[in-house]
Amino acid sequence: MGIDELAAAATDGGGASAPTALAARVQRRVWSRRVDSWDRHQSAGLEKVVAAVVAEAGEATGLSVVDLGCGTGQLCLPLAEKGAGVLAVDVSEAMLERLRERAAERQAAQEGRFAGSISWLCSPIETLAVPAQTVDLVVSSYALHHLRDPEKARLVRNAYGWLRPGGRLIVADMMLGRGATADDRRIIRSKVAALARRGPGGWWRIAKNAARYLLRVQERPISSDAWSRLLRDAGFADVTARPIVAEAALVQGRRPRG
Ligand SMILES: C[S@@+](CC[C@H](N)C(=O)[O-])C[C@H]1O[C@@H](n2cnc3c(N)ncnc32)[C@H](O)[C@@H]1O
Repeated sequence: MGIDELAAAATDGGGASAPTALAARVQRRVWSRRVDSWDRHQSAGLEKVVAAVVAEAGEATGLSVVDLGCGTGQLCLPLAEKGAGVLAVDVSEAMLERLRERAAERQAAQEGRFAGSISWLCSPIETLAVPAQTVDLVVSSYALHHLRDPEKARLVRNAYGWLRPGGRLIVADMMLGRGATADDRRIIRSKVAALARRGPGGWWRIAKNAARYLLRVQERPISSDAWSRLLRDAGFADVTARPIVAEAALVQGRRPRG
């Protein structure tokens, strides 16, 4: 199945529980208002995260890729330029609209040297339905920490089912637990210090993020060890985890061939 058929067959399967449907609605509302700010958000950290995923993906030509929580295309555009066929999925139609504009601009600027292709689907990740064993690579950057914890586990199991044998899941995200480990505390300290240096605006962000993080509203990161466990429990092999920058880490695993 090529990426066009895959894109035509993938759907929002619906059927979310009430808390999951509510969480997805909140994400849609929040992110639909942040299209401009996220699109302009060209931080060195985000660049490093995208570069790490693109490098981890390796030779992308001809791969069928699903990008979960694609936003305005920071990750899926470089992958498509490298020759992948990407199905870009996001809960926010406004984000996808900006992605379509950026894809058209970059395709025009490259005058035919844009090697791959992008299709899009507006769907919560939690209810995304993709035909079994049709995908070579599932990627996500800075999106899955928004999912509720049971949905993270379900997503990893679903991704395993979408992947062809030998296919890979690569998750790059804010990865930290709730302060129980020295690593968590180091990440929290460095985030707080970086925000505090910004003055009153930063202090406001510290208060807001601390409330969201402690109450598990919108921001629900888990540690790279916890992500690795989810992948292993779902059957992934060769699972590895490594820090990228600040709070961001990358976890990846492969669906065994046998
Ligand atoms: C921080 S942005 C990251 C965007 C992009 N992946 C990047 O690295 O720049 C998070 C994105 O995830 C999307 N998102 C959040 N929760 C989602 C959900 N439950 N289902 C689908 N998309 C979701 C948001 O709409 C937003 O576009």
